[in-house]
Amino acid sequence: MEKIKIILDCDPGHDDAIAMLMAARHPAIELLGITIVAGNQTLEKNLVNALNVCQLLDIDVPVYAGMKRPIMRQQIVAGDIHGETGLDGPVFGPLHRKAQPEHAVRFLIDTLLASDGDITLVPVGPLSNIAVAMRMEPAIVPKIKEIVLMGGAYGLGNTTPAAEFNIYADPEAARVVFTSGVPIVMMGLDLTNQTVCTPDIIRRMEAVGNTAGKLFGDIMRFTLNTQREFNGLEAGPVHDATCIGYLVDPACITTRDMHVVVDVNEGPCYGRTVCDEMRVRRGLVEANAKVGVGIDTARFWDLVEACLRMYS
Ligand code: BDR
Ligand code: CA
Repeated sequence: MEKIKIILDCDPGHDDAIAMLMAARHPAIELLGITIVAGNQTLEKNLVNALNVCQLLDIDVPVYAGMKRPIMRQQIVAGDIHGETGLDGPVFGPLHRKAQPEHAVRFLIDTLLASDGDITLVPVGPLSNIAVAMRMEPAIVPKIKEIVLMGGAYGLGNTTPAAEFNIYADPEAARVVFTSGVPIVMMGLDLTNQTVCTPDIIRRMEAVGNTAGKLFGDIMRFTLNTQREFNGLEAGPVHDATCIGYLVDPACITTRDMHVVVDVNEGPCYGRTVCDEMRVRRGLVEANAKVGVGIDTARFWDLVEACLRMYS
């Protein structure tokens, strides 16, 4: 079977790290590169985290540093959820792994232009890298097969009442991506919040008994504590990993076609993904995204476990 070629664009980040480890080993995926963006923490911190995960798990995929700031707004980070380093919890040894010298946006442009239109972008952080690449070289747009992203919500936000973190952290970039015409699959909070990783799931993944299982446990135990402290929850979701779940096992996730507009107006809805869930604008606008609405969680956790078992 032909592999799905992807570029993972991320801001690790606890759930980003789980998406990384799944994408790097699953046999259905060919991971061409990992591009890093500022988001959960500064670009520098997110880059170190990505390199640490790659080094620990022997993931031999090139890593590129990208945009340090959002396009227009002031930078925000999610230190409350992801800690001071952006990946608090796991303890890593001295870091030897290095990033590529090339900028992530350059890598995205060159790789897409040289492709046969068969690359899927998987952004699971703010959309700054993808939007800047689209504006710097519009010829890449028709070359992108699909964008499977984590971000937004048709319900409530997690950073403001209206907005989800990845979109709120760079709404103008999200606007560029959602108006690009590229087929989009959106894993928003309505879906990703269903992937709550309870203590029994953490124990199950740790019982795999390898480095990847231990990393999963260290990551999710930290997340569980911050979710308890800040959101009063007894478990934490693994938002970003749902994009990999969708790619390798689309039947595990139910989507609905919707027209999605990113609000870039100043005000309480800045950064909101306004989704036409009820299709009230049917006949006036075409749907521009498949939006995740439901997930078979048992099947999803089986997939996560299978990915962990692919490590030695
Ligand atoms: C998203 O924001 C980040 O904190 C997570 O990594 C995820 O991509 C969830 O809102
Ligand atoms: Ca993320």
